[in-house]
Amino acid sequence: MIFVTGGAGFIGSNFVLDWLAQTNEPVFNLDKLTYAGNLANLQALQGDGRHIFVQGDIGDTALVARLLAEHRPRAIVNFAAESHVDRSIHGAEDFIATNIVGTYRLLESARAYWSALDADARAAFRFLHVSTDEVYGSLAPGAAAFTEEHVYEPNSPYSASKAASDHLVRAWHHTHGLPVLTTNCSNNYGPFHFPEKLIPLMIVNALAGKALPVYGDGQQVRDWLYVTDHCSAIRRVLDAGTVGETYNVGGWNEKTNLSIVHTVCDLLDELAPRAGGGSYREQITHVKDRPGHDRRYAIDARKIERELGWKPAETFETGIRKTIAWYLANAEWTRDVQSGAYRDWVAAQYE
Ligand code: NAD
Ligand code: DAU
Repeated sequence: MIFVTGGAGFIGSNFVLDWLAQTNEPVFNLDKLTYAGNLANLQALQGDGRHIFVQGDIGDTALVARLLAEHRPRAIVNFAAESHVDRSIHGAEDFIATNIVGTYRLLESARAYWSALDADARAAFRFLHVSTDEVYGSLAPGAAAFTEEHVYEPNSPYSASKAASDHLVRAWHHTHGLPVLTTNCSNNYGPFHFPEKLIPLMIVNALAGKALPVYGDGQQVRDWLYVTDHCSAIRRVLDAGTVGETYNVGGWNEKTNLSIVHTVCDLLDELAPRAGGGSYREQITHVKDRPGHDRRYAIDARKIERELGWKPAETFETGIRKTIAWYLANAEWTRDVQSGAYRDWVAAQYE
């Protein structure tokens, strides 16, 4: 079996669902269930014996050691993290605790488990660390996209904590020989995306008749990838990636934030027209910019294509249409995640 951490979050839950749709190999899923973790994402697996869930922290060394000894996974895929840049600006403590200390402890638990395996199992074992393009910092307009050789220049508390985790993973390979793989992916979007992030926030606010808060001039650029394409990239790297290597994952879909918001509004105009008429674009408002806001990210995904034959299946046009259709069909999911904690966050950030 494989051992997934953070498998109740946005990408982790998509990965677990996709994994069990593609293979019969069981998944052990360890997730702390922070505000971002949601077992409703995994409802389709209820009664499916191939999925075992335990609520817990990657930094709980005794728990992780016990679970690894009991379930004997052939691989660990680490999604668990604090993932929201704006929250890291309000307070970075949880980011340091999970993304840095938690990753360190998980690496140590993995190393102890891996060291005691027999020779064949040791050779086959993999620790795959899921990371982000934000570790590379911000690109000037027209500058070449991030390759795996790009210098690390993290600018936010979130990206600094992810950069630290990447360095720890690298060191555990270089010094201790742990068979690691790292993926650095661009912005994901799709089902189960928590409505604190740009695309789901815009969909949910638009439908609720609320303002669509665009930071600054909205000309910041992100490189968007539909979440199941990220999942297939991770599966491919786990299968065939070279130990110790990093792989950049991206969709070749650079878009400004304002153009993303326009696309969301236009699709909603088509699929769920406003009751009183007019376009959802009328709800767009420009608000104070994010401190230290990175201007542009872009991923050069040629290495993973050349070496592992991976390419995204979705274009932005197909992926965003599926995403909006999913949110329209799953209003109950959105209502349920908009808990008291969610409302507190929205009040602190936007009001
Ligand atoms: P998310 O915030 O939606 O989910 C994170 C999950 O981790 C949640 O289920 C949460 O409960 C769990 N978690 C948090 N702390 C934990 C801990 N200490 N122990 C166990 N579980 C814990 O995040 P996401 O967007 O799904 O991102 C998953 C991973 O992918 C992260 O490592 C993130 O840095 C990386 N990533 C995200 C994106 C993106 O666009 N969302 C892009 C590239 C990389
Ligand atoms: O690049 C990968 C990263 O993408 C991941 O590592 C992070 O976990 C993930 O959250 C995401 O980070 P971003 O900061 O790029 O995503 P976010 O959705 O928060 O914001 C996307 C862009 O939209 C960014 O330029 C800020 C802007 N924005 C965001 C929000 C929430 C707005 O203009 N208004 C908003 O209300």
